[in-house]
Parts: sequence; C-alpha cells; structure tokens
Amino acid sequence: MNKPVIRAADPDDIHYRNIAALVYAEAGIVLGPEKFALIRARLRKRISTTGCRDIASYAGLLATPAGQPELPELISAITTNVTHFFRERRHFQTLATEVVPALRDADRSEIHAWSAGCSSGQEPLSIAMAIHEASGNMGPRPTIVATDIDTKIISRARAGLYSPEETSSLSAIQREKYFHRTPDGFKVMENLQRQVQFTTMNLLGHWNIREKLDVIFCRNVVIYFDLQAQLALWQRFSQRLMEGGWLFIGHSERIPDPAKLGLESVGNTTYRKIHG
Ligand SMILES: C[S@@+](CC[C@H](N)C(=O)[O-])C[C@H]1O[C@@H](n2cnc3c(N)ncnc32)[C@H](O)[C@@H]1O
Repeated sequence: MNKPVIRAADPDDIHYRNIAALVYAEAGIVLGPEKFALIRARLRKRISTTGCRDIASYAGLLATPAGQPELPELISAITTNVTHFFRERRHFQTLATEVVPALRDADRSEIHAWSAGCSSGQEPLSIAMAIHEASGNMGPRPTIVATDIDTKIISRARAGLYSPEETSSLSAIQREKYFHRTPDGFKVMENLQRQVQFTTMNLLGHWNIREKLDVIFCRNVVIYFDLQAQLALWQRFSQRLMEGGWLFIGHSERIPDPAKLGLESVGNTTYRKIHG
C-alpha cells in the first residue's frame, strides 16, 4: 500500500493552494500538496517574466482583474505536454486494420477524428499518417480536429516543426514521406498538415465540434482530472461518437462501466459505441 507523503508545512502553502484551486477551476487539473514543488518549479519563469517578487505576489496578481491575461500562461506552464509520434502504437494499428477498412466498406468518403488533448500535434499527425498508410489516396479522407487547452502548445503544433529527436519514433520511410528537412528541424508536409485543424479548447467547457465522430483519441489527459470529471467526459465522448465509432484512451486510464454509457470494450483501452 502507498504510504501518504508527509511534508513539512511551508508558509507559502496558502499561495500554492490558491493557485491549485484556480488551475482546478480553469482546467480540471488536480494539484494536491504533493504537487506544490512541481508548481514552484513550473512557475519560476512566469514569476520572473511577470515581474513578481515571489509566489505570494504571483498568486496576488492572479487574483486581480489585471492578472486575468496571465491565466492562459499559468495553464500553459502547469500542463504536462509529454507526447510522441505513434505513442501506444497498437491504437494506430487498430485504426489501420479495423477502422479504415470498416469505413471503406461502408463507402464512407470521410473519416471524422478528434484528438482531444493533442499537445504539440504528434498524436493527430500519427492518426493522419496511419490512415494514409492504410488507404493511400483511395480510401476515406481524414478530417482531424486536434484540440488542447494550452494555447502555446497549439501554436507549436500549428508550426508543424519537430526536432530530429522528436521524430525518432518514426520510421525512416515515414520521415521521408511526410516531412521535409529544414535547417530548423523536420517540417510536416503541407498535404498531411492540411488534414489536421488545430484549435484551443478546454475539454471541461463547450465543445465547438459540430459533426459526429468516427474516432476519438483522448489519451493521457484525464489522468490529471478527478473521477467526477473523468466520468462526465467519458459520457460526453460517447454522445459525440457515431454508432460503431471508436474511442481510444490512455494506457493507465479506464472507463468503469462502459455499457452504461453505450460503449463496449473491444480491447486494451479501446471502446466502440454500441448504441445511441
Ligand atoms: C500528456 S499530454 C497527452 C498528449 C497526447 N494525447 C498523448 O497521449 O501523447 C496531455 C495534454 O492534455 C492537455 N490538457 C490538460 N487539461 C486539459 C483540458 N482541461 N482541456 C483540454 N486539454 C487539456 C494538456 O495541455 C496536454 O497537452
């Protein structure tokens, strides 16, 4: 059994607690006392950039109307954006071997996919590559919406530029086919980038997505939320899926009672919508 982490009280705890409450209210991200050191480390730069003296004055700034433009910066500094191309590869195999053939057999001309919590873009671009590799230019055309709460990471994703290290999980063929080498790194080819529409969006707020989706990827995002927010999200995702649509979630995540939401578990962290 995990032992509770005992930490000495710190006079700054009140400020960390206030900042954690703000992050929770804005983004649903839970930051308990064991995360206060992480908050301190991640906000160091924001504190100096805003000209604040310390965490107390930064928390004070956030509490004032003048501090409101700082909120997206706070969220950007706090979010964890770790990702890579073809992360949890089996999901992309399912996409190529099951989803694309099923939609092709149904004579569909488009695949509507959503990468929810897309970070710097590797996940939606992997979706685009997997679909292209499965069907070439003959199968259903992907339209991929890719969203994240972090405005800065969405700007990075829109730039479509990746370091050699970031492309290391791609095969040499994929790198050749979908990227060109520039002095600044590997730039995504226009025809792939065009399939992905990057937008800033808070998963806990209004979803500006009109069409029903064939595929939703929401992986390694809800681990930062409490159970209530997770359950509400699974339900909303299910409502947005077409009948027979697929939902892929992160390796450490789980939907407790999928049937209740009209979902069926069809493999490790993979679900299908069974009825409306
Ligand atoms: C660890 S990354 C996961 C990236 C990708 N899905 C993957 O699995 O590789 C988590 C992402 O979720 C985003 N995120 C956190 N809270 C969010 C919220 N309330 N709404 C939308 N995105 C959120 C973060 O900004 C971050 O980019």
